[in-house]
Amino acid sequence: MARLIYSVIESLDGYVADESGNFDWAAPDEEVHRFVNDLERGVGTYLYGRRMYETMVYWETAHELVGEPDVIQDYTRLWQAAEKIVYSKTLEAARSARTRIERDFEPESVRRMKAAAGRDISVGGPHLAAQALRAGLVDELHLLVAPVVIGGGNKSLPDGVRIKLDLIDQRAFRSGVVHLHYRTTTRG
Ligand SMILES: NC(=O)c1ccc[n+]([C@@H]2O[C@H](COP(=O)([O-])OP(=O)(O)OC[C@H]3O[C@@H](n4cnc5c(N)ncnc54)[C@H](OP(=O)(O)O)[C@@H]3O)[C@@H](O)[C@H]2O)c1
Repeated sequence: MARLIYSVIESLDGYVADESGNFDWAAPDEEVHRFVNDLERGVGTYLYGRRMYETMVYWETAHELVGEPDVIQDYTRLWQAAEKIVYSKTLEAARSARTRIERDFEPESVRRMKAAAGRDISVGGPHLAAQALRAGLVDELHLLVAPVVIGGGNKSLPDGVRIKLDLIDQRAFRSGVVHLHYRTTTRG
């Protein structure tokens, strides 16, 4: 049974982007990027909301850039090798290999995917992840909390959802980013 993992780089006040959509402050330095690469090495499939896909599809052509550090080349290879499923009612065609479009997010179909998959499944951005959290499908959360308060924007976690969590790991990076690794629990 594969795990469904929600990983996010967020501000201390819980946003992935500010009200104008800016998330420059979230760009990981080399140390954090290396850590993220290792977290994602076990991911076989990414489930993306259309908006997150439009950001991440950058990696489909990142190998064409010259002089990028190893950590970027490593992530490029990881991303390109994984399967992607994009949830969208509007996207006409995928812009990357190993990608299919789903018109609806159906929890039962994700449950079957988890049961059948040999490698972990990741979900993002927050509007899509909210549906997986509400349906009780998310097994683990990786929150990378950046040392910044941005005052508003796109929330990493949805309103109206209550989940009990076990903290299974934590780490602070030189940049001030803190990683919190939680497992969801069915207790209480
Ligand atoms: N902090 C960071 O490191 C970081 C990194 C990358 C991006 N970002 C930010 O992350 C955000 C992206 O996440 P988001 O929460 O805005 O959007 P999202 O969850 O990635 O995508 C939302 C879109 O997904 C589709 N969708 C969602 N639920 C669906 C369903 N049940 N059935 C079919 N399609 C469905 C819809 O696409 P259609 O409209 O096409 O139907 C919807 O508009 C942006 O604000 C971006 O700037 C932050």
